[in-house]
Amino acid sequence: MRTIIEPFRIKSVEPIKMTTREERLVYLENAHYNLFSLDSENVLIDLLTDSGTSSMSANQWAAIMKGDESYAGSPSFHRFEKAVQHLMPFSHIIPTHQGRAAEKILFSAIGGPGKYILNNTHFDTTHANIEYSGAIGVDLVIEEGKNPQSEHPFKGNMDIEKLEAFIKEKGAENIPLCMITITNNSGGGQPVSMDNIKQTKYICMKYGIPLFIDACRFAENAYFIKMREPGFENQSIESIVQEIFSYADGCTMSAKKDALVNIGGWLAMNNDDWALTCRNLLILTEGFPTYGGLAGRDLDAIATGLEEVVHEDYLHYRIISTQYLGDHLTKAGIPIMRPVGGHAVYIDARAMLPHIQPLQYPGQSLACEMYLHAGIRACEIGTVMFGLQADGVTELPASMDLVRLAIPRRVYTQSHIDYVIEALVEINENKNSLKGMKINWQPKQLRHFSARFSHIDSDEIRKKTIID
Ligand code: F0G
Repeated sequence: MRTIIEPFRIKSVEPIKMTTREERLVYLENAHYNLFSLDSENVLIDLLTDSGTSSMSANQWAAIMKGDESYAGSPSFHRFEKAVQHLMPFSHIIPTHQGRAAEKILFSAIGGPGKYILNNTHFDTTHANIEYSGAIGVDLVIEEGKNPQSEHPFKGNMDIEKLEAFIKEKGAENIPLCMITITNNSGGGQPVSMDNIKQTKYICMKYGIPLFIDACRFAENAYFIKMREPGFENQSIESIVQEIFSYADGCTMSAKKDALVNIGGWLAMNNDDWALTCRNLLILTEGFPTYGGLAGRDLDAIATGLEEVVHEDYLHYRIISTQYLGDHLTKAGIPIMRPVGGHAVYIDARAMLPHIQPLQYPGQSLACEMYLHAGIRACEIGTVMFGLQADGVTELPASMDLVRLAIPRRVYTQSHIDYVIEALVEINENKNSLKGMKINWQPKQLRHFSARFSHIDSDEIRKKTIID
């Protein structure tokens, strides 16, 4: 059979409230054209993030009931630890309430002024936590990873030559840690090859630098290795995952992605001294080491999620259904980042809307139109998110203006995705009517979460064009 079906059936449903364009216009105006300010019940298809939005399985809900809420030594912790160590065999597994809490603890322990933390591309919370410690985060992804049209199969790969050159230039003593993010979220959900992980480890070992993996989407990355990297086609996902982590000295994890739960994370490592420092920080900020920032029942849901996420039927459906959306958009002439990543499709709004200049936020304009036209919520990843410089005043175009359609795990069916495709095809047909936007109010940092926007009228567009 050629038709790929969702490998689950639905036992419990969450109704979607249908809305009209007129109603959505009111909601959007009340939200000042910032999609983060919408009430989610007024969204038909929510593609804002794949983080914490998964559907849990019947087995995960059953595991929740087994949760033991003892303050110390809970059996839920032991089940969680065993499930993590089965895939990621590190000696210390430290539960946290989500990924960024693991990052905060790690960089408080090993970061600091004068230090550099390397990565293919740091996710924004990782980068922010590194900088908060006083250290500098450095991105060393391969050149193909920055080109939206390159069809390289592993666009998340680390640039090995740049990595070694950077270590030689700055000195290994100033680099406490090198990381690899799988899949590379900020680079479009692109995978990293096993060979590249091995080569990164080799360079790190040569200079005595520990290698950590930002493991959020480890199972999706493993499936790409199985599909695309010669020599892995007949290996089980579990064994690919185990091999990936055999090259690492630790990891940070947001369980809100590939552990198929709504909250949770962990920090893992082999270094006993670091683990002692991290556990002490954990007690200050999260909780006792056998629950971290979580309830016992959350740890049980993660343990079961980790068993489910490495099933090949699930991963096949997951990767192919994201690709289905991307391929249909490509066929309709809508420019997207190629090849399609694991958890999201990224529309190249700057290429789709060349009549809107980057400082008039083509990504924001497209994301607002998707909501108005069809009730779909997506996320601008471009000049709104990255354009405001550190002085809190200067504004520059980001390197790209993308709109991310992140696909929650096991939540939407093919007809939901067909609806998204139809909406985007219709928007694309009328794309010349989309207008640029301006910001009427913004905070000095992280402005994308709360900035207030409105559309620019034609006079203003002309004036701005002349000034630019
Ligand atoms: N690392 C990566 C690669 C991520 O994608 C995220 C979160 C984190 C770390 C932080 O984890 O949210 O549990 O604290 N990404 C979400 C997203 C927010 O929408 O891509 P967290």
